[in-house]
Amino acid sequence: MCGIIGYTGKEKACPILLDGLRHLEYRGYDSAGVAVENSDREDHPIEIVRVKGRLQALTEKTNDGASVEGRCGIGHTRWATHGEPTELNAHPHAAKDRRVVVVHNGIIENFQELREVLTRRGYEFHSQTDTEVVAHLLDAYYQGDALDAIARAVTRLRGTFALGILFREEPGVIYAVRKDSPMIIGRAESGNLIASDVPAILKYTRNVCYVKDLEIVRLTEDSIRFFSIDKEEIQKEFTTVQWDADAAEKGGYAHFMLKEIHEQPKAVADTIHPRLKDGRVDLSELGFEESEIASLRRIQMAACGSAYHVCVTGSYVLEKLTGIPVDVDLASEFRYREPVIEPNTLMVVVSQSGETADTLAAMRYAQQKGVPVLAIVNVVGSSIAREADKVLYTWAGPEIAVATTKAYSTQLAACYLLALYIAQIRGTMTDEAISSHVEELLSLPGKIERLLEEKERIQWLANKFSAERDIFFIGRGLDYASSMEGSLKLKEISYIHSEAYAAGELKHGTISLIEKGTLVVGVATQPQLVEKEISNMVEVRSRGACVLGITSYGNYTIEDHDDFTIYIPKTADCFYPSLVVIPLQLLAYYVSLARGLDVDKPRNLAKSVTVE
Ligand code: F6R
Repeated sequence: MCGIIGYTGKEKACPILLDGLRHLEYRGYDSAGVAVENSDREDHPIEIVRVKGRLQALTEKTNDGASVEGRCGIGHTRWATHGEPTELNAHPHAAKDRRVVVVHNGIIENFQELREVLTRRGYEFHSQTDTEVVAHLLDAYYQGDALDAIARAVTRLRGTFALGILFREEPGVIYAVRKDSPMIIGRAESGNLIASDVPAILKYTRNVCYVKDLEIVRLTEDSIRFFSIDKEEIQKEFTTVQWDADAAEKGGYAHFMLKEIHEQPKAVADTIHPRLKDGRVDLSELGFEESEIASLRRIQMAACGSAYHVCVTGSYVLEKLTGIPVDVDLASEFRYREPVIEPNTLMVVVSQSGETADTLAAMRYAQQKGVPVLAIVNVVGSSIAREADKVLYTWAGPEIAVATTKAYSTQLAACYLLALYIAQIRGTMTDEAISSHVEELLSLPGKIERLLEEKERIQWLANKFSAERDIFFIGRGLDYASSMEGSLKLKEISYIHSEAYAAGELKHGTISLIEKGTLVVGVATQPQLVEKEISNMVEVRSRGACVLGITSYGNYTIEDHDDFTIYIPKTADCFYPSLVVIPLQLLAYYVSLARGLDVDKPRNLAKSVTVE
């Protein structure tokens, strides 16, 4: 979604803002802008430069930032919600005479009502955005005390927001405040920064502080002060982010997605290794009492998009290994269907960003019903990580490409760890079975590495299929969950229509879509289901489909029934999704590449979906 950066310090601000925005591009945007205040001039004017489209246009318009003077400023990449992506709707937005200038992430739900009130008071609106309301509202409350104006204004706002604010009468100062939309503060050598996301400021500092809901921050070149909404000063801890600046660069790869696909062996190893000890899983970091685990009667999982597919896989694995019934929901459905949540339920939510609005809402719903929430999260300090009762971090590092790859793989690994840990405590698996699964887990990074070595062949297949109109993915059980992920990955970055089906469902309608030459990707890894899956592949092939089979080494009879085969190394049945996903990710990547598309930033999509 939208991105925010702000800097006040000794250096010229505009180049730093542009660099920060470049590192936020991955979040998705359709216009961009900066506002820089020039304290060196007596009237300290605020210059605003905005463009529709790519950041490159802003870079050109400001001559790489050189033409905009000043050492204090805020910048924004906008992903249109209220009003089209135009220069006029791009942020920053200003109140009259630029007394107040604002960048905003999130949605102000009562903007219409506020707009009417402010219009009656003589304020003129120049854009269609909800953000402009915030600038005027702050101006209306501003009587020479910025902190007071912010505290009053935010109590009038309904919805979600992260705001970066400049007041012309306070040169060199940036204010920040948030509610349900991320905001971090960074302390660097040359000055201080605000940002909606860590990668934006990694180049300048790893010393960060996470702003909580309704905390107000005041930054100058050499001070950072935090206030509660009651204007009381509060003390906050800074932490050191483990991610390094290189992690947010392409490092020689053509795209972040390809780089992140290749980072999977390490990311999976980093996620599992610290949690394996002497052939057993150690998740004592979660702080569960054994009695809590023993008394669990149900697990409820919820997430969005690919993280939901992780939950589907996780539900099969958890149920199979622990014997506990598991329900899975899309977070956006869960939050509104008023689900019955019984006592002794564990809610598990999965999120890379830790900021997905629907997942956050699903988690809060479960907490209100009195059950604990365990969150599988990648971003340390994110909203979900902070609010969950227990957090199992995935150690994927920053994921920049919009289409998730390494975060997905580490989320799968986290689900396996959780399932084995619960099984250990409840005694639903023998010690031998646990230790053989642990051994298999340890071998996954090496097997992923082997699959990556076959990328040229997948690229060859991708070039062959890049002009398809529809592609179907079919599988049973865990292979159905993998098919859903393969289909989503392909459609989101190649724009080819694609569907995933439980193979047994084909005959109930979908098979009528199969015609001569339709590509069907059949995933067949689960030993007890391979034959049944192959029969479904035969059914579609006999209706003209071209079949790409994905199975494990040893299942060579598949070649009698498909047109192309991708073999994956053998592993424990429940870990196959971690291997199947590698060729599926590569297929999506290379199809998108062959079609000449923007792999890392597919149209209409944002990396972190902080609105419903
Ligand atoms: C697809 C993708 C999305 C995310 C979804 C949830 O490639 O990345 O479907 O999985 O938006 O995001 P997080 O995990 O940040 O909650």
